[in-house]
Amino acid sequence: MNSVRVADIGDYEGQEVRIQGWLYNKRSSGRIYFLIIRDGSGFLQAVAVRGEIPDEQFDLCGALTQESSIVVTGRVRADKRAMGGFELTLTGIDPVQVAEEYPITLKEHGVDFLLDHRHLWIRSPRQHAALLIRNEVIAAAEEWLRTNDFIKLDSPILTPAACEGTTTLFETDYFGEKAYLSQSGQLYVEAGCMAFGKVYCFGPTFRAEKSKTRRHLIEFWMIEPEMAYATQEDNMVVQEQFVAHIVKRCLENRRDELLLLERDLSRLEAVTAPFPRVSYDEAVEMLHSEGREFEWGDDFGAPDEAVISSRFDKPVFVTNYPTKVKAFYMQPEPGRPEVVKCADLLAPEGYGEIIGGSERIHDLELLEERMREHDLPRAGYEWYLDLRRYGSVPHSGFGLGIERTVAWISGSEHVREMIPFPRLLNRIYP
Ligand code: 4AD
Ligand code: MG
Repeated sequence: MNSVRVADIGDYEGQEVRIQGWLYNKRSSGRIYFLIIRDGSGFLQAVAVRGEIPDEQFDLCGALTQESSIVVTGRVRADKRAMGGFELTLTGIDPVQVAEEYPITLKEHGVDFLLDHRHLWIRSPRQHAALLIRNEVIAAAEEWLRTNDFIKLDSPILTPAACEGTTTLFETDYFGEKAYLSQSGQLYVEAGCMAFGKVYCFGPTFRAEKSKTRRHLIEFWMIEPEMAYATQEDNMVVQEQFVAHIVKRCLENRRDELLLLERDLSRLEAVTAPFPRVSYDEAVEMLHSEGREFEWGDDFGAPDEAVISSRFDKPVFVTNYPTKVKAFYMQPEPGRPEVVKCADLLAPEGYGEIIGGSERIHDLELLEERMREHDLPRAGYEWYLDLRRYGSVPHSGFGLGIERTVAWISGSEHVREMIPFPRLLNRIYP
């Protein structure tokens, strides 16, 4: 008999099937065992009745511990009360391994304990659901980019130069020379867009952030599209379509997981293009009108972003940040060099920044001047300056942080649970 996936069980009503999985939980009422089996694709209740299966098989059910690996056979029955609408009447059970006492019981555990057992915790329903939503976000993002003619161009992880400031660099030794783990693939996709027009990279990025917040990971995943001959205005139009598509596909394909996480779906259904835009100047006024102390020229913190985004029911672009709080490569606004052509996209409901993007400086001299101001050593950037020497054009791009986006879509407080194995300030295990 071929094995079937729990997710497909509805196609087999009335038939006998075989399922390969693990025992998630069990209950007994004397003559009956209710086994909840998970197989990675879903959860299913199997019912074993004494007298209907051989006694030694029935007694085996009693010996099975949580997370024992088992292969079962049974007949599929529709049952409105059952989760997923189906139940299995057990005809046979074959333990593969009877698990030792499982550390994650169905009672509450502290988060440090759970993070220490992350390799097992990812089996639990809420973690499992969040990681399925992550998978959907990534698939939807790449689907949109490919459908819209973006070429995937991988950027290196080991790099000679900083992209996002020198304070969060992870330094390593590269055969006697200094190298850094990539903070962003942007500089390389800038080269890529001059060769292919529209490109993106997707990979892990690294920031030695000393801050311990709910929104910061040391290693996080970023998807970074970059377009030649594109203005910051073009850039924002791409971003709102891109994000709306990701949300729509999660609503279509991951409804069960969103509901399991108690996500208010109406909040996600509201996320359609276009998105509202406010300038940094207007955002500062909003903060002042709510009585918050904030000085023009500072960067927004998480509470500031929450105040701004709470005024909208869609993600909101905050445009034209002060030049001095942003990276060296951003194009100044004509006639207003104190601000740059950029936008951060803030997710609604206080989830904060999910995208950072900008138009890039395309003039060689201006870029050289900015690099001097930022004290960046020229050696690692000569190739980047070449892009301004040989057919330079206005170009724009952005980076979407996967874990922040998954946290918002799934309605989760912490980015640390939005990645299979988080790297945090004090954690590199497991
Ligand atoms: O705003 P950031 O720093 O922008 C860049 O890196 C640009 N080079 C991207 C580009 O234009 N190609 O980071 C982009 C996004 C943020 O909006 C946020 O979603 C995420 O990356 N991010 C983090 N996510 C988790 N932990 C961290 N420490 C993060 N830092 C940034
Ligand atoms: Mg940013």
